[in-house]
Amino acid sequence: MNTSLAVLSYLSRHQDQYVSGQKLASEFGVSRTAIWKAIENLRDEGHLIDAVTNRGYSLLQQESLFDKEKLEALLPQVSIHLFDTIDSTNRYAKQLASEGCSTPTLVLAHSQSGGRGRLGRDFSSPKGGIYLSLILAPPSSVLLASLITSAAAVATARAIEEVCSISCGIKWVNDLFLAGRKVGGILTEGVMNVESGTLSSIVVGIGINFSTPQQAYPSALRPIVTSLYGKSSLVPKDVEASSLVAHLVAALIGYATSLGDRAFLPEYRSRSIVLGKQILINHHRKQRKAVAIAIDEEAHLVVETEDGNQEILSSGEVSIGLDA
Ligand code: BTN
Repeated sequence: MNTSLAVLSYLSRHQDQYVSGQKLASEFGVSRTAIWKAIENLRDEGHLIDAVTNRGYSLLQQESLFDKEKLEALLPQVSIHLFDTIDSTNRYAKQLASEGCSTPTLVLAHSQSGGRGRLGRDFSSPKGGIYLSLILAPPSSVLLASLITSAAAVATARAIEEVCSISCGIKWVNDLFLAGRKVGGILTEGVMNVESGTLSSIVVGIGINFSTPQQAYPSALRPIVTSLYGKSSLVPKDVEASSLVAHLVAALIGYATSLGDRAFLPEYRSRSIVLGKQILINHHRKQRKAVAIAIDEEAHLVVETEDGNQEILSSGEVSIGLDA
């Protein structure tokens, strides 16, 4: 017998009820530890299972986070593609862009099976998150294009604050942070016109951990990620994922039309959680200590290294930690 499958089937037949670990253990003739392990496996697979002391486990319904009609009404100028699940919204958006779709176009999904992160990493994308890619016309110069990720970070942090009333920080260059943990990330990719050798569009991919329970993430990520409403698994009724998406997409389209104004930069600086801090610069598997002293007009990070020199970082990774 596959205990995980048996537990899943039992809980789905008793949806909206809490079933104790003891009851499940005697139902299937296994130990409570085996039940606990089965629950952990199911959560790793993305099933939303709530656990309440003295009541037991309950399988939560995975309802759609988005209302396409509402989104279309809120974003009338945007063409919207909504998926339950997809490999990667960025991959699909790049395909649409290379086929010459109109801009702006939004690709949105409830989960991704092959979510992509920066530096060639995977991006864990279980149900309960918001996974979107916005296809935009390219700005007039490549230099300006490099500002779009920072503008997207501000648009996302602001939308989270406005819609969810939760204050959100930005860890240079593109991580969204809540109380010391990552709550979202951004991956910007360009689509080239091979014949002209120029950028034909920009794809800004944004992932937000919205109502994802902590157990839905792989165990290695659980200590370092959080989600906006993951703890309760119950999103306050007045906060809708569609409003959050609409706020952030509208703000990002606004910034993208006048990137050269750098209107987002003051907020990018004020939301920074690295400025003034001791940091570690991670480069080619080597780490160096430095202090983050400024963010310049190109959204690059100005640091002072241990030997007292100033350096300007244009990309890469920094971490803040006790050992930094
Ligand atoms: C990072 O933190 O490394 C960047 C993560 C970017 C994830 C988003 S989710 C929507 C879009 N589709 C992807 O495959 N990746 C981006």
